[in-house]
Amino acid sequence: MKPIVFALPGNETFAQQLATALEADTGETTIRNFPDGETYVRVLTDVSGREVILVCTLDHPDGKLLPLYFLSHTLKSLGAKCTCIVAPYLAYMRQDKVFHPGEGITSAYFAKLISGFAERLFTIDPHLHRRSSMAEIYSVPCMVLHASTLISDYIRDHIGNPLLIGPDSESEQWVSQVAKDANAPYIVLEKVRKGDTEVNVTVPQVEKYKDHTPVLVDDIISTARTMIETVNHLKKAGMKPPVCIGVHAVFAGNAYQELQNAGVDSIITCNTIAHASNALDVTALMAASLNKIFLS
Ligand code: R5P
Repeated sequence: MKPIVFALPGNETFAQQLATALEADTGETTIRNFPDGETYVRVLTDVSGREVILVCTLDHPDGKLLPLYFLSHTLKSLGAKCTCIVAPYLAYMRQDKVFHPGEGITSAYFAKLISGFAERLFTIDPHLHRRSSMAEIYSVPCMVLHASTLISDYIRDHIGNPLLIGPDSESEQWVSQVAKDANAPYIVLEKVRKGDTEVNVTVPQVEKYKDHTPVLVDDIISTARTMIETVNHLKKAGMKPPVCIGVHAVFAGNAYQELQNAGVDSIITCNTIAHASNALDVTALMAASLNKIFLS
């Protein structure tokens, strides 16, 4: 039997697209806050004996986690066979080491929490930097999908003479793959993050690429400082205005406007987080992966 797809608040569009692609049923809930701010969850669809998909992208995760946790438990109390979380963007993956004494490794704590109430997790390009796999911190199966083909197809179809630019050494593994698929050259920068909103990047010699269109490719655009710093260097070097491509449009505060004002050609993201810059649709990618599990 096909699974039932439930949307957590704010995820209705992506959940509906996914349900359509999967030809799955959609579930109904009431999720709201009590006057005192506590979360109220009620399931309005019969889930007895059914597999259930909860769609909840996890940017700004703190306020989303409790509704997700309550809904997952409620569904199971109503007889759902298993609950599977689709989180196109997965939060807390960057807190993967103790950077300063007294800190904790919150990516691991977050993983433990999610693994405690879901049977399976599907996500796109989680920030795996110091970890080689999700299994190091998640104790439930995680299906990790990649937007690199969508990005390389976009570059091939829309950008003439591109030069791909990865912001730091950790991005090399996948920027090199995107560049190979887009049949384009690439360079990788050196980045030092000095604080939440302070980033230094070193841009290598780019003179020989003056005729190219720079394409900055990163997994997350959060404060956009990484991209803005790079754009400023490229401007000084006399390069054309760059196209900025990010998988996840986190865009904290005014980051989107600030990046637009930095003098870019365009800003392109995937719809892992709903945003005005979304131009690459990950629905089919996600649906294909879900189908493998639910139709097998
Ligand atoms: C971190 O290493 C990521 O790959 C991104 O480069 C980073 O998250 C971008 O952050 P921001 O937009 O705040 O510079």
